[in-house]
Amino acid sequence: MRIPFAALLLLAAAVATRGAAAQRGPGPAAAGPAASPGGGMGMAMGMGMGMGMGPGGGMMMGSGRGAMGKPEWMAVWQGLLSNHAQISRDWRPTAKGIESQTKSNDERLARLIQLHVAQMAGALDACAAQGGCQQPPLRGWDPLFVEVFRRANEIKLKVTNTTNATGDATGVAVQEEGATDAARALARAHAAVVSDFARRGHAAMMEAHEVPKA
Ligand SMILES: *[C@@H]1O[C@H](CO)[C@@H](O)[C@H](O)[C@H]1NC(C)=O
Ligand SMILES: *[C@@H]1O[C@H](CO)[C@@H](O)[C@H](O)[C@H]1NC(C)=O
Repeated sequence: MRIPFAALLLLAAAVATRGAAAQRGPGPAAAGPAASPGGGMGMAMGMGMGMGMGPGGGMMMGSGRGAMGKPEWMAVWQGLLSNHAQISRDWRPTAKGIESQTKSNDERLARLIQLHVAQMAGALDACAAQGGCQQPPLRGWDPLFVEVFRRANEIKLKVTNTTNATGDATGVAVQEEGATDAARALARAHAAVVSDFARRGHAAMMEAHEVPKA
């Protein structure tokens, strides 16, 4: 299914605004549904399979519990997953981690890739600044991602937004380095999983992944 990008970006902006509003005051999102440890996974799966932009309230319920991430992140990655067939991605291991290139010939999609990577790099930075997150900001049900955010301070990302000769966005080039063997193994496992997301879209996104042996 293809989501029109204008609609998607508008939606992302609207959802982000709502999220910000919710953070300012003790609104319904702050009061929130009672946290049930098992709830995250069920909700994440429901969202993914139900596809898309369900009611904003539904998306917000997952935020703050490490289940699905912020609503504005969700809107972006739903767009990427739905259009995964138009995304190409390559990665290779390097001495200290990986390098990757993720691209689309569709410029709007290329911009969405850039936005997604900027969001995720920001989330990783935020965790690194606190010496790693014990509660991951997203995919709290997926051991590989839990470990990536737990070791965020051992992982360095260098992101370059790429453009073509006309100056149009084409995607991102990423260099990722791990300070430890464990972090380097995580970077490689994570790169492979991201490629799987790009190849298979929503179906891949529902799966949990093991932490690699360093
Ligand atoms: C650059 O990308 C845009 C959008 O994808 C495309 O229309 C244009 O032809 C590309 N230009 C070159 C020189 O590749
Ligand atoms: C890449 O583009 C995104 C989306 O426009 C932006 O948020 C981000 O800051 C850019 N990243 C870099 C490294 O310039």
